[in-house]
Parts: sequence; structure tokens; C-alpha cells
Amino acid sequence: MKKIKTSAVVGMQWGDEGKGKIVDLVSEKSDYVVRCQGGNNAGHTIVVNNQKLITHLVPSGILHPKTICIIASGVVLDIKVLVEEIKTLEKLGINVLDRLIISDRCHLILEEHIKRDQKREEILENNKIGTTKRGIGPAYEDKAARKGIRAGDIIHSSIRDKVLSKEYIKYAKILEPCISDTISLINKIIEDGKNILFEGAQGAMLDIDHGTYPYVTSSNTTSAGICTGAGISPNSIRKIIGITKAYCTRVGEGPFPSEYNQKDSERIREKGGEFGATTGRPRRCGALDLVALKQAVYMNGTTDIALTKLDVLDGEKSIKVLTSYKLNKKEINHVPAFIHDLEKVEPVYKELKAWTKPTCGLTDYDKLPKEAKDYIRFIEKEINCKISFISTGPDRKSTIILN
Ligand code: GDP
Ligand code: IMO
Ligand code: MG
Repeated sequence: MKKIKTSAVVGMQWGDEGKGKIVDLVSEKSDYVVRCQGGNNAGHTIVVNNQKLITHLVPSGILHPKTICIIASGVVLDIKVLVEEIKTLEKLGINVLDRLIISDRCHLILEEHIKRDQKREEILENNKIGTTKRGIGPAYEDKAARKGIRAGDIIHSSIRDKVLSKEYIKYAKILEPCISDTISLINKIIEDGKNILFEGAQGAMLDIDHGTYPYVTSSNTTSAGICTGAGISPNSIRKIIGITKAYCTRVGEGPFPSEYNQKDSERIREKGGEFGATTGRPRRCGALDLVALKQAVYMNGTTDIALTKLDVLDGEKSIKVLTSYKLNKKEINHVPAFIHDLEKVEPVYKELKAWTKPTCGLTDYDKLPKEAKDYIRFIEKEINCKISFISTGPDRKSTIILN
């Protein structure tokens, strides 16, 4: 057997950590990039030479012309959105259909799922989850209830004509040549020593089992979800790159222990362009939460961290980091499961010195201000995981790569 060359990129917070940027960067050398779970609730941004591109379903390795992109079995697929995304990319001169493979086991998001998602959020009013209203939850519900429709089903016209609207039949026909078995394919390319990158969506704190339930998404967002989603064994991933911002954001409802006050949140939102890549909603901003991050390192088996958006903290007066929570006056070092406990934990902060020279666009570690290096080393020590990438701007080039 050849040497296994696989890596995964996973979100370590509440999503939007900058996975798209890092996947694009790392996949330069990848033969294959594989999306494994979630759906078009994801919005992954790639910036190359000031040109911005957002992918929702197509893996973020698509910009590299020789890379083959796979949408694996754990993804819930809205075929209308996928066809629209393909058309947008092809208009930009990016050839997609010839190098896209879709698992025949992907469950479909149907129009009815989107309606159910929207309706439920309306009814919940003050207790809503703040979903992306893309039908993600209802599609996974039908999958778990064993009544979902899968991509492989709609290859058969007898089923397709029964379950899809005229409009969706059109999309199904466009995608049909891309639909096939991916279990044997993915495992074979691993065996052949191909360079494969697995692209996670969302983040650890949105995981259906271990996130801030019920304010979570409906899939497993950790490296375990990559294995079940792609149909590979846990020992087939060599490198697990966890993406975390140098601070925190969250979009949608739910507890957020290190959330800034309104003024600080607005300042960081403006500096960091913190608006949802899928829904355009303003993201809530807060300090880096090391309790949640440490938990994410455990759950993912993270081997390397990519610390993004360091530049957004340029010009801050001091750097506040959450180091533990207090619950009923007792210090705790884990994220409580009971949502009302998590809502009432008091954050314990450490304040570090801010830097005065900008880090924006830097590509050389030695050029970082001392205080920024101190911040990076502090995080590394607290979470016991090495930081291998430091991102200093949205562009592919604005990255410090450490070994
Ligand atoms: P994803 O869902 O994890 O792929 O992240 P999103 O694309 O939703 O959100 C991350 C946002 O931050 C995007 O607008 C990126 O262009 C931007 N971004 C990524 N890395 C950096 C960085 O290091 N600095 C700055 N300023 N922006 C970044
Ligand atoms: P990427 O891949 C940030 C959030 C929603 C909501 C909750 C449930 O871009 O990091 P859902 O529509 O999944 O049922 O919504 O999850 N959410 C995300 N937040 N980034 C994402 O993806 C998200 N995908 C879902 O805002 O709080
Ligand atoms: Mg996003």
C-alpha cells in the first residue's frame, strides 16, 4: 500500500472560521477535495487577487483546475442550489461539471424541507434557532426517519417523476452524469496514495451531539463527521487542521459566553467584515473562548491549528481571552451541556497586551510584532496544539505557514 496523504479541514468554533480560505490554500497540491457533511447552510469564502468567491456546496478546491471535487454521502443536497452554483462558477470560466462527483447516497433537500424549516422558525418566534432556512434540519430529520430521497434514487426516472417537481427534474437531469458510488472511489484513491483534502463545514460548537444544543446544526461537524460523511475509517486521516479565528463569532441564536458588548461587537464586525456568507446576517462577535476551543481540539483530534483573522485585532487596545467559566461561583473548564447553565456561565478572562504595528498581509512569522507572537504562543500552550498557519488577511497570499 502507498503512503496515505490525507488531510481534513474542520471548524473549531461556531462556523465561519475561514475554512474556505484555508481549503483553497492547502488544496493547491490536492488531487481531490471532498465535502462530507452539511449542505448549503455553509458559505465558504475564497479571495484570490481581490476577487471574492463564495461556495456553498461545491468544494472550495474548485479553483485549482486539476483538482477533482467530490460531494460525499453525508452532505444534504439541494440540487437547485448546486446547479445555480455550477452555472455561476462556469460563467467565471471555471469548469465544474467535468470534475464533480456526487455520492449516490446524498440525501436531497426538497422544496418541502425548506418550507418546513422556514415555517418552524416563524412559529418558534422568540425561541427560534436562527437557522439558515435552507431546509437542512428537515432533510436530516427525514434521513434519520428513513424516509429520505437520495441522489441515487433520482437517476431512475420512475422515482424522479414521482418525487420531484418539473423544475427539479430539470436539475436532476443536469447532475445525473455526476452521480455515482463514492465509497469505493474515495477509499481507492486513499489506497493509491493520492493527495486528498476533506473539507468540513460549520464548526465544533454547532455539532448536533456535542455543540450548544439545541442551537446547533443537524450534522456532526467534527472529524468524526468527516469519516461517516465520506465513508472512510477514522484511521485514514493523517492531518486534521482545525480552523479558529483569533476571536470568536456566532451567527444565529444561542448562548455565547465570550460575546462582546454591543460597541465592541460592532467594531470587530466592521473591521472583520463579519456578515454571514450565506444569509448576509450580522455575526455576533466575542473574545476567543479557550474552553470551547480546547474541547474542539479534543473532539476533532486536531493535529494543527490555522489561526485566522489575526489582522482584525490590529489596533485593539488590549486582547481579552476567555480562559474558564464560572458556574454558580465555581470555576469550570468544560462547556456545560445544559443550555440554561451555558446561558448563565460567567466568563473568566485573561488580558494580554495588544500590538501597535499592523499584522495585516504579513507572510513572515519573524515580522510579527512581539505581542502578536506572545498571543499565538499563549493560545498554543493553553490548548496544547501547534499553530501551523496564521492568516493575516482574506487573500490566499496573506498567510504565514509554519512547520
Ligand atoms: P468559512 O465558512 O469557515 O469558510 O468562513 P467564511 O467564508 O464564512 O467567513 C470567513 C470570512 O473571513 C470571509 O469573508 C473570508 O474572506 C475572511 N477571512 C478569512 N481569513 C481572513 C483573515 O485572516 N483576515 C481577514 N481580515 N479576513 C479573513
Ligand atoms: P460554514 O460552513 C456559521 C448555524 C445557523 C444556525 C444553526 C442551525 O460557513 O461555517 P441550520 O441552517 O444549519 O439548521 O442552522 O447553525 N450555521 C452556521 N453558522 N457558519 C455555517 O457554515 C453555518 N451553518 C449553519 O446560523 O445558528
Ligand atoms: Mg461560512
